[in-house]
Amino acid sequence: MPRSIFGKCRAACMYMRMIFAAVYLCLFSTQAKEADVIFVDQVSHCVPILRLLSKAKILFYCHYPDQLLSKPGSALKSLYRLPMDKFEEYSTGQAHKILVNSSFTLRVFRETFKSLKDIPVGVLYPALQTKVFAKKARKPNRFTIPSDKLVISSVNRYERKKGLIIAFEALALVRKQFPETKIHFIHGGGYDPQNDENVEHFEELQKSAGNHGFVEGPEGDYQLLRDLSNEDKLFLLQKSNVNVYTPIGEHFGIVPLEAMAAGVPVIAMASGGPLETVKDGETGLLVPEPFGKIEMAKTISKFIEEFNKTERSRVCAQHVADNFSFEAFTSQLDSILTQL
Ligand SMILES: *[C@@H]1O[C@H](CO)[C@@H](O)[C@H](O)[C@H]1NC(C)=O
Ligand SMILES: *[C@@H]1O[C@H](CO)[C@@H](O)[C@H](O)[C@H]1NC(C)=O
Ligand SMILES: *[C@@H]1O[C@H](CO)[C@@H](O)[C@H](O)[C@H]1NC(C)=O
Repeated sequence: MPRSIFGKCRAACMYMRMIFAAVYLCLFSTQAKEADVIFVDQVSHCVPILRLLSKAKILFYCHYPDQLLSKPGSALKSLYRLPMDKFEEYSTGQAHKILVNSSFTLRVFRETFKSLKDIPVGVLYPALQTKVFAKKARKPNRFTIPSDKLVISSVNRYERKKGLIIAFEALALVRKQFPETKIHFIHGGGYDPQNDENVEHFEELQKSAGNHGFVEGPEGDYQLLRDLSNEDKLFLLQKSNVNVYTPIGEHFGIVPLEAMAAGVPVIAMASGGPLETVKDGETGLLVPEPFGKIEMAKTISKFIEEFNKTERSRVCAQHVADNFSFEAFTSQLDSILTQL
């Protein structure tokens, strides 16, 4: 079956493919005929078919309402989407058990699927390979991290929407407040020399740092690293005292989890994913609204005054292991399957 018709109708084609797969599974697969539970991921449109053709219980894992992923278009497009969107809601409700991938998604689910308001929905977070982060990373040869300073790490692509500039603005304020504390800021992240935004933003950050009188380099106040390998990223996280995560409104944000799994507390905006993943005051600190440089600076200052990485390390790693590890995912899913 095609993925699109002359580049159009991608959604309709995807739903048809799922429905086709469901029909095939029920008619021709012996395993499916004997299955107790069928796990449907992301696209719900095939659920009614599975209900019709099989005796299995249907578990539906919703990542995000599919209709919200489609870009709004013309009136004609809305007309084309309307029946599919209605059917998405109906078919989702046909599952015996519904899971979503975060509390954020649950909120969106409730706002979108009004007719399903009384149906219980569980939250099952995707799993992080936590063991990788507990292993001691090899010392990189591309960069060094000073051992006699308070090291603040940050990891993200060089994109403006990641809000990195605020880190420098806040650090300038913090430096005034704690002239005695030697702070070293290291940012590392994806950088594509072909991508204009990456290139421009890298220069903007350097300029902003320069404007605040920060000196670049391992002996200086900050470093901006491009294209870290996974091993280097792990080293950077492990060697830092705290990880600062600057984006606002990110659905989830994997970096704070990686940092905590590496035993490093996180400072993040009280917005989006970190509200669910960072335990304020325990595995890090959340920056309050309106998420400006003043709030960020105050939170970093609070961290310097009250937090000790050595004491927090275990709590951070344990929090990730308890809630976001493969083991946590497995045991939660296992008990849901058993209930079904
Ligand atoms: C849930 O799925 C959506 C859509 O794929 C994704 O953007 C979001 O990051 C996911 N959330 C988690 C917690 O993985
Ligand atoms: C952090 O805690 C550890 C263990 O309790 C202690 O040895 C260390 O001196 C503390 N560091 C600071 C800066 O207070
Ligand atoms: C994390 O796991 C602990 C222990 O199982 C649990 O008490 C807590 O509610 C979980 N937190 C989140 C955010 O899921």
